[in-house]
Order: sequence, then C-alpha cells, then structure tokens
Amino acid sequence: MDRIYFDNAATTALDKEVLEAMLPYMTTHFGNPSSIYSYGRESRLAIETARKTVAKILNAHPGEIFFTSGGTESNNTAILSAIRDLGCKHIITSSIEHHAVLHTVEHYDTTDEITSSYVKLLSSGHVDLEDLEAQLASQPERCLVTLMHANNEIGNILDIDAVGNLCKKYNAIFHSDCVQTVGHYPLDFRKTPVHFISGAGHKFHGPKGVGILYVNDNIKIKPYIFGGGQERNMRAGTENLYGIVGFAKALELATNNYENDSRYIQSLKTYMIEQLRKNIKGVQFNGDQEGECLYTVLSAAFPKTEKSEMILFSLDMQGICVSGGSACSSGADIGSHVIQAINNNPNLVTVRFSFSKYNTKEEVDKVMTKVKELI
Ligand SMILES: Cc1ncc(COP(=O)(O)O)c(C=O)c1O
Repeated sequence: MDRIYFDNAATTALDKEVLEAMLPYMTTHFGNPSSIYSYGRESRLAIETARKTVAKILNAHPGEIFFTSGGTESNNTAILSAIRDLGCKHIITSSIEHHAVLHTVEHYDTTDEITSSYVKLLSSGHVDLEDLEAQLASQPERCLVTLMHANNEIGNILDIDAVGNLCKKYNAIFHSDCVQTVGHYPLDFRKTPVHFISGAGHKFHGPKGVGILYVNDNIKIKPYIFGGGQERNMRAGTENLYGIVGFAKALELATNNYENDSRYIQSLKTYMIEQLRKNIKGVQFNGDQEGECLYTVLSAAFPKTEKSEMILFSLDMQGICVSGGSACSSGADIGSHVIQAINNNPNLVTVRFSFSKYNTKEEVDKVMTKVKELI
C-alpha cells in the first residue's frame, strides 16, 4: 500500500540532495571537529561553513547562530537563559504554544524564580496584542515574552514585528519559536526585533536531531551544557557534524526554491479547502486558515459522529498519515491543548492536514475520497 503523508508539520522527508551533502561526513570525513590534525580541521571547517551559510540566509552574524539538537532544546535554552542570565522575573506566553515552551515555563513557574501569565487569544486564535501590552505595562519586573511565530496545529502566524516592538518598548526579552517558519519563509533576523529564535531542520526536509538557536548579539548568555567547550563554550559535546551540514543544505534548498515550493504547497491547501467545503457538510476550519496562516497547515473540524471520531485511526488503516493535533511522544490521543484553547466544541473532531513539496493534487483527491466515506 502506498502511503500518503499529509503530516509535514510533524516532520518531513529528508531531501535526497541533503542526504548527499551529509553522506561524506558519515563515511569518509568523520574526523572530530575538535581534533587539531587536518582530518579534524576539515570537519571544523564544514561546521563553520554551515554556520556561515545559515547566518547569511537568515541575515544574522555567524556568532549569533548556535547549533542545537532541535526545536525543543532551543526553546528550553532561550527560556533558561532569559531567567538565569538576563534577569527575567515574569514570563508571558500563550496557551497554544508547543509543549517545548509550555512545559518549560510551567517548570520554572513551580520554582520561586519566576511567575508566568498567558496572553488572551482572539476568536481567530491570534494573540490579543492589546492584552499583551497591558500585561507588559503592569509588570514591575523584567519580562520574557515567548510566543511562537506560527502555530504547528492551526497554522496561525504571529505579527512578530509588532510583538518585538512591544517588547522593546517595555524592555522585555522576546523569544519566538520559529520551528514552523524557519525554512518555510524568507526570514530576516537582523530586521526582526527579537532576542532568541528557535528552528529545527526536520521541518523543512533536513535531518532530525539538529536545530538552531539564534541569540541576538546584544545579549550575552552563559554556557548551558558544560564540558569540552564546543559551540563557543555554550553547548559542550562533540558536534552533530552531518546533521549540521544537512541543516545548512536543507535551508539553502528551501530558500532557493521558496517561491515555487510555497506557491505549489499553497495551491494544494487551497484545493483541499475547496474540496472539503464542497463535499463535507458542516466542515469548519480552526484558526485563521485563509488569513495569516501557514501555507503548509490545514486544520479542519468535522461534525462528531461515531464514524468521524475514528477518522485518524481509519485513515491510518488506509495508509494516510494525518494528525489530530501535534505529534505526541506517547502516541496517546488525549486531545489537543491548542484546539481546546481556541475552539472547545465537544461536537467537533479536528484533523490537521499538513503538506510539503512532495505531495500532489492526486493525493488530495485520494484523501478526499476516504474522508467522504468516513464523515
Ligand atoms: C512549533 C514547534 N516547536 C517546537 C517543536 C519541537 O521541535 P523538535 O522536535 O525539533 O525538538 C516542534 C515540532 O515538533 C514544533 O512544531
């Protein structure tokens, strides 16, 4: 059975060109980047070349890019550093962040180090900027604002400049989880008023287990993994050499092909919205699907019936990979905190379809045929 993979917000297939760029660093060029002989220096050069490539594409200084193990580590590090090194005593976030942010904030909130609060959301699922400003204005101590650039479940895109400017006004630190937008949009970090940005390679056809944390030059953070002093002493441990090479290659490809790929993927999403509206009575869409939204993500809500409740399972039986909310490590479907926060309607069943350059209109037709049967 041929699989149809419509879960590209969870992870994406590795691009063949990315694999080709990585392979030599798994086989012949495996020297430890910290070794001082030429074999090691070649590996070091590959890492620093990758860092320069990434920095150039995102318009940052190479010194502002730290390679990490992915979005989760980058989010954890930004929050830890803001509290430990930058004097933040209060965290403002939203209830629809990824768990890599939410659970980290909850953890620090159980200590005496900080307090936290959640910004109000509009009915569209967007952050209420007036409420954000009111919260910033009422805090006597320095705040960290951590708000994602795009939501992985509903796709809503934040006005990151507006949030950054508010943070500037109130001398707050701003971290944005850009895991769903790095490699999907032409970002310009220098022009974005933000202190920390997180990205992950596996969301744009790069390898898993490698990400970036951008730390703006204007702030200084302290080491957070201690050992051999890699990543300019911030994050010790032998580098994920081939992962880093793959991350840079994937970002390069994504950037070079952005116009075509984004237009194509948006056309798949638009077509699926049309087909759902035409064929499924009572279908609704979560978030701001046709407004400020990722072109990769389509979050649909179907009327709940005995059949539709089983839709994820039934589609899986047909080789169709979609998700209810975000991918959950335990595999248990305990309902999505994002959907609960924006549209807590017990009579609806949410399915997230998320697309990539490898999907086709024929696949949308096939999935539609199954969805029609199951709803
Ligand atoms: C918005 C968002 N943040 C963070 C993460 C975590 O990234 P990673 O799996 O690379 O740790 C993900 C993906 O799982 C995500 O979609």
